[in-house]
Amino acid sequence: MARVIAIASQKGGVGKTTTAVNLAGYMALAGQSCLLVDLDPQANATSGIGIDSPPSSFLPGLLDGSIHWSEVSEQSAVPGLRCLPSTVNLEVPVTTAEARGGGADRLRQQWLDAPSSLLDVVILDCPPSLGPLTDLALHIADSVLVPVQCEYFAMEGLAQVLELVRRAEATHHRKIALEGLVLTLFSPEVDLCHEVAEEVRRYFPEDTLETPILRDPTLAEAASHGQPICHYQPRSAGAWSYLNLTKEVLEHEWTETGTWA
Ligand SMILES: Nc1ncnc2c1ncn2[C@@H]1O[C@H](COP(=O)(O)OP(=O)(O)OP(=O)(O)O)[C@@H](O)[C@H]1O
Ligand SMILES: [Mg+2]
Repeated sequence: MARVIAIASQKGGVGKTTTAVNLAGYMALAGQSCLLVDLDPQANATSGIGIDSPPSSFLPGLLDGSIHWSEVSEQSAVPGLRCLPSTVNLEVPVTTAEARGGGADRLRQQWLDAPSSLLDVVILDCPPSLGPLTDLALHIADSVLVPVQCEYFAMEGLAQVLELVRRAEATHHRKIALEGLVLTLFSPEVDLCHEVAEEVRRYFPEDTLETPILRDPTLAEAASHGQPICHYQPRSAGAWSYLNLTKEVLEHEWTETGTWA
C-alpha cells in the first residue's frame, strides 16, 4: 500500500519544493517506487526534476476519475521516480468542495490500489497557502511534513497548518500523522539558526526531525538544471542533508493497516 506524504506550509520560500524533489529523489534511489505530485501552479517541482508542464491541468480528470495517474505521470531521469506535473492553470478547477469531496477519496484510492511494484510512496508538493490545493493535499495524505525555515518568526503559522490537518482528520475519520517538522536553510555559522532550531525543538520535542537541512547553493543550482541533488551533486552538503532526512523518514514505521507506528 502506497503511503502519501504532503509537504505543506503556507509560508513562501521555506524549502517545500526543494524538500519534495530531493526527498523523492533519495526515496527512488533507496528503491522506493516514487511519485512526485506537483500541486503548485508555480510548477517549481515539475521544472525542478526536468519535466515540462502540460498545457492544461490533469487535476480535474484525476479528481473526477476520468483519467488515471499512471496514464499522465512522466518518468524523470531518476529511475523509479515519476512526476505528475503542474501547470499555471492548476488553480482554476479546484474548489474547496471538490478538494474535500469524493474527488480526494477517488484519487487517494487510485494510489492505495497501485501495486507496490508501481508505487510505494507519493510526495505532494503544496503551494504557499492554506487554500484549496493544500486542503486537497491534506485530505489525500497519510502524513504531513512541514518545512520550518531557520529564520525570525519561524513558528508563526504552524498552528494553522496543524489545525487544517486536524480538520481533515475529522472529515475523513482517519489519522493523518505529523511526519515531522524539518528545519530548513540551516546555516551552522549563524547563531540565529541555532536559536530558532532550539526553540522549535523545545515546543515540538517529539515532532522535530533530527536532520537539519543545511543552506547550500548547490540545491538551487540543481533545481535550475532540472535535477534532484542526488544526481546533480551527490557530494554536496545539501545532498548529505536530504540523504539523512530520507533515512529518517523511511525509518518511520508504516503498518499495513494504514497507520503510522
Ligand atoms: N537548503 C537550501 N539551501 C540553499 N537554497 C535553498 C535551500 N532550500 C531551498 N533553497 C532555495 O530557496 C528558494 C525557495 O525554496 P523552495 O522553492 O524549495 O521553497 P518553497 O517553500 O517551495 O517556496 P514556495 O513557497 O514559493 O513554493 C529556492 O530558490 C531554492 O532553490
Ligand atoms: Mg514551492
